[in-house]
Amino acid sequence: MAINESREDIVARVKERADIVQIIGEVVDLKKSGARYLGLCPFHGEKTPSFSVHSGQQFFHCFGCGESGDVFSFMMKYHNLDFPSALKELAAKYSIALPERPRSAEQAKQDQFKKEMYAVSEKAAALYSRYLGTDKAAGARAYLTERGIPKDILTRFGIGYAPSVEGEGWDYFTDKLTESEKKASLEAGLSVKNDRGGVYDRFRDRVLFPIYEISGQVCGFGGRIIGEGQPKYLNSPESRIYNKSKLLLGLYQQKDAIRKKNQAIIVEGNFDLISLVCNGCENVVAPLGTALTREQLRLLKRFCDEIVLLFDGDEAGVKAAVRSVPHFLAEQVSGRVALLPEGHDPDTFVRERGLVAVEELVAGAETLPEFVFGQLVKEYGLTLDGKSKIVEELRPLVKAAASPLQRTVVITHFAEQLGISAEQLDSMLDRSVPPPVEEAPPPPPEPPVMRAVEQIEPLSKSQRRLVEFMVLNPSYLGRLEDGGLRECIAGSVGEVLFLQLRSLIAEHGEIEPEELLSKLPGGAERELVSDLLLEAPDAGDEHEADSLIGAEAEELLEWMRVYRLQRASRQLLDQISGMKTGGDFSLLQELLQKKQNIDRELKGPEL
Ligand code: GTP
Ligand code: MN
Repeated sequence: MAINESREDIVARVKERADIVQIIGEVVDLKKSGARYLGLCPFHGEKTPSFSVHSGQQFFHCFGCGESGDVFSFMMKYHNLDFPSALKELAAKYSIALPERPRSAEQAKQDQFKKEMYAVSEKAAALYSRYLGTDKAAGARAYLTERGIPKDILTRFGIGYAPSVEGEGWDYFTDKLTESEKKASLEAGLSVKNDRGGVYDRFRDRVLFPIYEISGQVCGFGGRIIGEGQPKYLNSPESRIYNKSKLLLGLYQQKDAIRKKNQAIIVEGNFDLISLVCNGCENVVAPLGTALTREQLRLLKRFCDEIVLLFDGDEAGVKAAVRSVPHFLAEQVSGRVALLPEGHDPDTFVRERGLVAVEELVAGAETLPEFVFGQLVKEYGLTLDGKSKIVEELRPLVKAAASPLQRTVVITHFAEQLGISAEQLDSMLDRSVPPPVEEAPPPPPEPPVMRAVEQIEPLSKSQRRLVEFMVLNPSYLGRLEDGGLRECIAGSVGEVLFLQLRSLIAEHGEIEPEELLSKLPGGAERELVSDLLLEAPDAGDEHEADSLIGAEAEELLEWMRVYRLQRASRQLLDQISGMKTGGDFSLLQELLQKKQNIDRELKGPEL
């Protein structure tokens, strides 16, 4: 790598070297047609090619689904990578050296330990899956056969069996580990310590479903008891590698089917998922025994535009569907709901009625707003009183709308259902709860301020850290702004970036840092963002406790507070020393008092 080559230069060099036709040609069958290449779009199901790749402009576009971009966006979208990983992969492929991000010794140690946790999980999956084939697992195999699961599906999902105490004792798995593996195994919750310091297996006499990350890495397990018993499921505890709110059972195995159908069906149970797949309904995933989270939707929407909830028809199923609505709105993904007939879950339903019946149910699924409204009408009726109760219940939903446009759409929809005008509903939503002491509404997003280059202030180290945090964690933008972010980076490229980020968020809802890059026109801000993304920790670190991010935010807010006080104190000093002797004495006193107050605040509370 040339010395002083900027990251922007490196990005450009990788782009130049990585031929888009070759890269896409590896996964899509492309035929030359005039100046471009044509193939079947990998992002939506189609039978006639409308996906075109332009070698000249190094650009792809699908006339069917509208997807388009450069070689980086292709890598990101197709292989589900973030920008730094896409760059890394392409650079490696074309032997272009990337500057290493220096890692602290502590960070390296943490990464190493996480690797060991992954490795020991992988080992457990292999061992338990092999054990399922042994004589002593005949009972488990019979159970799985009885539940209609053939061998190839067991293999596809890596399903295994953890032996019983009678079969193999208390530490069948733990016993096979080296000392350092044992540590990792404890941390991953595959082994457990007892009061006397002994270490034994967590999972015994259970059918095990490995939980895979999107990359195919095993990071945890769900274990079902054979037959009746309590608890029915025993799952891996949360750990540095297993965060159940960000994972979906089956996504790794079924993601291609989901992409092809451009639709994902979410079911509640492990066996619902497996059973649907066994019966030919392939675009399915399941959360890991908890309510659906926003992170899970965000993960899923990378593969499809539509998500269908296929839940039990009981009260719990309805509640779960209703509770997920704000997440759908916040992620701006369209959702529909199909409820199973009383007494059925997807597993029993597909086995009794077959695939076609499931497909009919899914095809007839109601949109989420319709569904919610229907439930509310069922509960409250459409009397005047009922309507006002419904408006109350709609409030959090409307509040979750990700953008003003979406808010309007939601309000218009519900207003129509209630038989009132959108303006009426809007004002009812405004009115019926006494507004808490209203804060001033945020000023409308301003157009980005472009400054002449020579006017741009260079960023100090702390300011750069602030800007980096802002770019990587856009969800904190509001809090940072409240803490005086703009003042702290005033006059720098960071300020321009802040304004752009704010207007993008106002327009698109929350946006991922990588999207920011593709939305920036170019220039110093784009260069800064691509620098920051390159320096940012790997996507692999996504599971790192959110608390770390929270802690960093606190630290930055504190830095901002001090920075602003210091700045104010300096400005007062300038003003004071600029005053003429014999000038306005009372103003001088006021300024001195102000400065004293600020300086006291800077010193902190007296002990
Ligand atoms: P069966 O069909 O009865 O084998 O189970 P299922 O896989 O269909 O699960 P069910 O519909 O009863 O529950 C849905 C999901 O909730 C399960 O797949 C588990 O992830 C979770 N779950 C159910 N029971 C338990 C439990 O006892 N403990 C824990 N931690 N999770 C459970
Ligand atoms: Mn079930």
